[in-house]
Amino acid sequence: MSATASSPALTAGDIRARKGGTPLVSLTCYTTPMARVMDTHCDFVLVGDSVGMVLHGLPSTLGVTMEMMILHGQAVARGLTHALMVVDMPFASYEEGPQQAFRNAARLMAETGAGAVKLEGGLHMAETIAFLTARGIPVMAHIGLTPQSVNTLGGYKVQGRDDQAAAVLADARAVAEAGAFAVVLEKIPASLADRITAEVPIPTIGIGASAGCDGQVLVVDDMLGLFAEFKPKFVKRYADLAQRAEAAIAEYASDVRARSFPGPEHVFADQVKGGSK
Ligand code: KIV
Repeated sequence: MSATASSPALTAGDIRARKGGTPLVSLTCYTTPMARVMDTHCDFVLVGDSVGMVLHGLPSTLGVTMEMMILHGQAVARGLTHALMVVDMPFASYEEGPQQAFRNAARLMAETGAGAVKLEGGLHMAETIAFLTARGIPVMAHIGLTPQSVNTLGGYKVQGRDDQAAAVLADARAVAEAGAFAVVLEKIPASLADRITAEVPIPTIGIGASAGCDGQVLVVDDMLGLFAEFKPKFVKRYADLAQRAEAAIAEYASDVRARSFPGPEHVFADQVKGGSK
């Protein structure tokens, strides 16, 4: 389903109500121009903490701060009229306990205008999710591969294979019971994603999961071929913008060195003649 420019802004409740319906469409988003491009095509956009790796060149998401999330959240909000904006809670902004999580989630929502926050973790985050949702903060959960735990997971590996499947299923049940309005399933076997989708009453949003999920999310720079150094199996490249940008920049460099740019049409005359500027 594609939205129209006049569609009202979607809420977490609208996303929750789409369980089992037309698949939900989502991408990460970090800037105003990209928000404008994706607003009518996406049901929600995620200001993901992947911004640290994708736009700031950090080696992982662990160095992302509240200030970075707020700055990018504010930029994205300026480009949206339709899609719900969900902002990631960065590493170390919520894990201490429900009070710390509430303080930072409330700040993210108040300072960016986000309609919801996302946090990583299943069973062990259930109490925090219940605390936030009871106090007016819609929460999207994120289970399976949780990149903020890369150091304890031992890398960006597939989660939930074989005897780990029961733990991921328990995580999904726990976040749904705690009141999350949706759950991201990252990098888990397709059959497990299908089972979770069938069993939990909230929408499942897949990334490296299954086409059977209630929706999909991708990191926009991955699917546009802009984050060229990273090419996970679960990303479909819809464009190769890094290559196209490089070709354009090489042409510009060659024009400048040959003095063929700027041309006569790009420079200003001494006097304005016949109304031309
Ligand atoms: O930060 C992010 O981009 C994410 C997606 C991978 C779901 O959390």
